[in-house]
Amino acid sequence: MINVDKIREDFPILKRTVHGKPLVYFDNAATSQTPQIVIDTIVDYYSNYNSNIHRGVHTLSQEATDKYEEARIKVQHHFNAKEAYEIILTSGTTNSINIIAAGFASILQKGDEIIVSALEHHSNIVPWQMLCEKTGTILKVIPMLEDGSLNMDAYHDLVNEKTKLVFCNHVSNALGTVNPVEEIIAKAHAFDAAVLLDGAQATPHIKPDVQALDVDFYVASAHKLCGPTGVGMLYGKEKWLQKLPPYEGGGEMIATVSFEKTTYAGLPHKFEAGTPNICGGIAFGAGLDYMNAVGFDNIASYEHELLEYGTQELLKIENLKIYGTTAEKTAVISFNVGGIHPYDIGAILDKLGIAVRTGHHCAQPIMDFYQIPGTIRASFSFYNTKEEIDIFVSGVKRAVGMLS
Ligand code: ALA
Repeated sequence: MINVDKIREDFPILKRTVHGKPLVYFDNAATSQTPQIVIDTIVDYYSNYNSNIHRGVHTLSQEATDKYEEARIKVQHHFNAKEAYEIILTSGTTNSINIIAAGFASILQKGDEIIVSALEHHSNIVPWQMLCEKTGTILKVIPMLEDGSLNMDAYHDLVNEKTKLVFCNHVSNALGTVNPVEEIIAKAHAFDAAVLLDGAQATPHIKPDVQALDVDFYVASAHKLCGPTGVGMLYGKEKWLQKLPPYEGGGEMIATVSFEKTTYAGLPHKFEAGTPNICGGIAFGAGLDYMNAVGFDNIASYEHELLEYGTQELLKIENLKIYGTTAEKTAVISFNVGGIHPYDIGAILDKLGIAVRTGHHCAQPIMDFYQIPGTIRASFSFYNTKEEIDIFVSGVKRAVGMLS
């Protein structure tokens, strides 16, 4: 059970006002808010042991190294990776995907096929288009259906012996659809293709088990998990991380360097050139600890209540259309009202202290499918309340009244 009043006490930002109104923060799919314990972790790092890691014999460096490596183990346990060195700490989901795409550029050949879903964020489309330009690999797309789900019959027809990699999001950022990732993985593996899941939008709501999923790569961002921006993770099965070349050259990722030949460090350091976001990594671990203390089963069931309530109340508004209506979805409601531009409703909501995202949500192909410029997206977290949904729904009604 969630004690939402108690949880809200942990988030200082929820006490602020915007344009004189109490903040209603419904842009959680863009970034989650930060609990005091994570803020304290960041302050503690810079106040007490700020130093570079893996380098110094001095006490501060050892303390920072220990905390950073403890954070990696927290991430390992959270995702149930077999080994801590299968967790690469990156600057976020986009960086993680680019590391994998750059690695596959040296493996894939002209005529090989890779498969993406129609529901992707641009960060899981563009790196692969860049790869295809370089290698002559062919990019195929799993089409979507009107309800915001994937056309799985089409997917089964797309996979064949030429398929080398399938990549899709676990949950759609624009619609909240939870994709049938087990089925996607089983089919790809039947043809020896690897699978990458973008977990940026799934991880705030679902605790993934990478071994149970048998997924080859899983990526996510700390800032959607009560952690800071600028840090994220890349899980890769050891055999894949051994096979892929390093992404960047520099300090930390080497074993030996000479002008004749450089040899690379083992995992995970091979993929972690340069000074990482040390404080961010440690705070990532603190964010995961916080969310695990709340409990992902509690989070999922409470957010589902918010989703059902918000959907029911919004649908009372005339001409309101929700995009993404699958039974399996996270607490995201993407909608438009009549022909009103989503930006105009979003701007009025902001004046009422309500934060939502408007636009194409970095998922233009989805907007093209629905032939709309964008949507208004309200995305809920476990610290939101039904009372906030009431304020939001009456704000939408007010905006519609002003704009109709
Ligand atoms: N990818 C984030 C979103 O969907 C920023 O809002």
